[in-house]
Amino acid sequence: MKRNRFIVPLLMVLLFSVPLQLSAEEKMADSIDELLTMFDESSCMECHEEIHAQWADSWHAKSVVSSLKGMHNFIEIGLKKEWETPLTKGQVLKCLDCHAPVVNYASEKLAVEIGEMIVTAFKEKGTAEGEAAQEELGKLKIGCISCHNLKAGTVADGFNGPPEKGMMYGPNGEDAGDAHETLELADITRSSFCMQCHGIYNAPDGEMIQCNTLSGSYQNSYVAQGGAKTCQECHMKKGHLFPGGHDLETVKEGLGFNVEISGYGHLPGQLEGKKDPSKWVPSAVVTAFIENKTGHRVPDG
Ligand code: HEC
Ligand code: HEC
Ligand code: HEC
Ligand code: HEC
Ligand code: HEC
Repeated sequence: MKRNRFIVPLLMVLLFSVPLQLSAEEKMADSIDELLTMFDESSCMECHEEIHAQWADSWHAKSVVSSLKGMHNFIEIGLKKEWETPLTKGQVLKCLDCHAPVVNYASEKLAVEIGEMIVTAFKEKGTAEGEAAQEELGKLKIGCISCHNLKAGTVADGFNGPPEKGMMYGPNGEDAGDAHETLELADITRSSFCMQCHGIYNAPDGEMIQCNTLSGSYQNSYVAQGGAKTCQECHMKKGHLFPGGHDLETVKEGLGFNVEISGYGHLPGQLEGKKDPSKWVPSAVVTAFIENKTGHRVPDG
């Protein structure tokens, strides 16, 4: 009798956990188009026209195709030649968890295909095959849903739980009528939200990947010395365009330049051999001050 009290709940847990795992498997996409249907962003521009236009001009909208060379080298030279490690979804995510978060929902087979496409697009550039691969990969970006759903709460995923499908997490949680559900999530307004990608990725196999050291200098130098601005405050002044090092205006904003010149004369009587003691050699001390006004080191990379 006593034993049953434990066995029954245990059986219930087993029964319920099996179908849950299956449905998690079902969620994985087998083609890029299927992946895009799962996280459909085609309608966002209808109502968020300006934001969409800004985003489309941002580096977040070309986050895979702009980085093909580096990704090709990781797969072809790193994994294949140097480490003799097979290409798996886990390896592909070492780049694409940040460069295209939707790939977390690709099947193992599709993720490997995406890795192979990266190699083809880079190696066969200019050929029909290469261009076709490039076009497919161009569909993978850091899109609206990457930030407003998939990565919105992952800074504290133990606390926030997994993202709810179809929910748009935003800074205000304003009612969007029938268009979609919204939820206010302060996390997205904090620097730590950006730092998940502009920082370190800890792969499940223990490897640490980092494309830039910017978050480290933000935290250990800027904030440590009293800097109070968030990434968003500096980089979202133009909304979703996220200007950075590729934008001349932003670069100028980040650098303070000041020159002090003080003239003086020296070596009296030595000017071009003239022995006139009243002539001095004119000289100047030029001191240039270059001030870093960003929230981190520049340049970065
Ligand atoms: C899902 C990962 C991810 C998140 C979240 C993310 N970024 Fe990015 N960001 C990237 C990647 C990857 C690139 C590089 C894309 C490229 O070069 O094509 C990038 C590019 C940029 C650039 C352009 C850099 C340049 O060289 O001009 C800026 C600025 C930027 N991000 C700021 C931010 C800020 C601020 C936040 C937070 C509000 C943020 N990002 C959130 C991944 C992310
Ligand atoms: C932790 C998230 C993250 C991971 C993981 C990651 N990257 Fe990046 N990557 C970024 C961010 C953010 C930038 C933009 C940095 C900047 O502009 O300062 C970037 C920039 C780049 C760039 C330069 C892009 C340009 O337009 O100049 C290349 C190339 C690149 N990454 C390749 C890779 C490769 C290859 C891998 C896998 C081995 C990888 N990244 C993994 C976040 C990541
Ligand atoms: C790189 C991450 C990132 C991407 C990509 C992104 N957003 Fe945002 N978005 C943010 C952040 C961060 C805020 C909050 C800014 C703040 O208030 O601090 C925000 C704010 C918003 C807001 C509310 C505030 C406002 O400006 O009206 C809307 C609506 C929005 N985003 C829609 C979109 C749409 C639509 C897309 C795709 C076209 C998109 N976002 C792509 C990070 C992102
Ligand atoms: C039929 C119109 C419509 C469509 C389509 C639509 N939205 Fe919205 N959305 C709204 C309205 C209205 C609001 C509330 C007012 C505002 O913030 O602009 C809103 C608010 C938001 C917010 C901000 C929530 C906050 O914190 O206040 C985000 C983020 C957002 N939408 C993202 C998206 C994304 C991503 C898509 C595409 C998958 C999308 N929306 C498609 C109408 C729409
Ligand atoms: C006080 C304002 C300020 C803060 C805070 C700030 N940035 Fe920047 N950031 C800038 C300016 C200005 C530049 C352009 C300077 C340059 O690249 O020469 C820049 C450049 C960048 C670049 C391009 C780097 C490159 O080498 O091209 C990225 C990416 C970036 N910031 C991301 C972030 C992230 C992520 C955070 C938060 C962790 C952040 N920034 C905080 C002002 C700021």
